[in-house]
Amino acid sequence: MGSESNIKLLDENGIRLDGRTPEQLRPIKIETNLLERADGSAYIEWGGNKIMVAVYGPREAYPKHTQDIEKAVVKARYNMAAFSVDERKRPGPDRRSVEISKVISEALSSAIMVEQFPRAQIDVFIEVMQADAGTRIAGLTAASVAVASAGIPMRDMVVGCTAGKVEGKVVLDLSKEEDNFGQADLPIAVLSKSKRIVLIQMDGDLSLEEFEQASGMIMKATDNIAEIQRNALINRYSVESIGDGE
Ligand code: CDP
Repeated sequence: MGSESNIKLLDENGIRLDGRTPEQLRPIKIETNLLERADGSAYIEWGGNKIMVAVYGPREAYPKHTQDIEKAVVKARYNMAAFSVDERKRPGPDRRSVEISKVISEALSSAIMVEQFPRAQIDVFIEVMQADAGTRIAGLTAASVAVASAGIPMRDMVVGCTAGKVEGKVVLDLSKEEDNFGQADLPIAVLSKSKRIVLIQMDGDLSLEEFEQASGMIMKATDNIAEIQRNALINRYSVESIGDGE
């Protein structure tokens, strides 16, 4: 973020390097239950991001001292494969992945009915196979679908998007170049019905007015992304019910 560069991110008509308008999302595709051994799973392609999520649980939390007698503990682990980025990513957790795992765990805990499963843990493995900016939001959006596909009771789905600033203009869903060379990056995730914010982070600088414009764009986009989440779950279950009748 913020590195100076001569790269031109917007043309004279405000069109972005990949041909998008300022408020246009990259293509998003979500599929569920691709992994047989997980209780739930989802795969998302969002622009060039390719992310698989596997969910296990609720199961008894281990080690025992991690148990909460009042509710389930959501343990999300965000991991980037060594081959997911341009420069090989050193395997294993680092500060960035620990932080992302923490904010994703907290966001999912707000949506899952954790109070129904005291002493349990719900594991959410988020494996980034190809990274192209916005992986925490893409991972969280897919994780919500994976949790739902595991049949874990939720009060709402979690859905998110990013916005940011490039060349002084607020744009939705930053691409990799925009993330690298832009002036600000604002990932936000909400509960899809109530619109309550469950994740918000900011890198770079936005004025209050720009912040309001960016968050407004995100809120609007989350309705479309929530529809893609819903369709992924509906498709999965309609295919299953056709199969049952055969
Ligand atoms: O992915 P997200 O935007 O949530 O997080 P970020 O820390 O703002 O990273 C932005 C992008 O930088 C990632 O999506 C990757 O494409 C890239 N990146 C990378 O190339 N190498 C890393 N070790 C970390 C991130």
